[in-house]
Amino acid sequence: MRIAALASGTGTILEALIGADLPVSLVVVDRKCRAIEVATKAGIEVVELIRDDFTPTFDRDAYSKDLVRALEARDIDLVVMAGFGTIVGPAVHEAYRDRILNTHPALLPAFKGWHAVEQALAAGVKVTGCTVHVASLEVDEGHILAQEAVPVLPGDTTTSLHERIKAVERQIYPATVRRVITQLANGEPIS
Ligand code: GRF
Repeated sequence: MRIAALASGTGTILEALIGADLPVSLVVVDRKCRAIEVATKAGIEVVELIRDDFTPTFDRDAYSKDLVRALEARDIDLVVMAGFGTIVGPAVHEAYRDRILNTHPALLPAFKGWHAVEQALAAGVKVTGCTVHVASLEVDEGHILAQEAVPVLPGDTTTSLHERIKAVERQIYPATVRRVITQLANGEPIS
């Protein structure tokens, strides 16, 4: 089983995956970020598929095809998104259908998208959380594999709440990826 992790940020979720001894053999980043150092320190190959266009003219299809080429060239079986800031296009979902996992810092289907933590705070919810799910072409949809609630505390900021959520993600994501690996190895459906 060869896993590729896709990351754009501080890479703490990536660190948790690596720390759990999951077979991460490739890290792909879409920008310069700490995840590169995390992977390098762990001796894991990094592909820097740097995205130079964050405007609506971004050629998502070309980027997605480049990503598939990088993954297939390294015989990747399972793709785990670990805070990846680029929505991948149909080419990736066709090549890795039901083989892409994601962790999201909210209790889906609430608060989809990149600003989930801000949205939860703005909505005034008392409880939010995190969701591990199979990634599909529709952003933050797809079969839910694990969820855990996290309380919103008085005085929480986006940063403090996100950190509390990420602490839980660092537990449930590696555990869920491990379960999926076993299910795939046994020819069972992912659940
Ligand atoms: C996590 O909250 C993840 O759910 C979200 O981005 C964050 C990544 O955190 N998509 P880090 O960069 O791994 O610390």
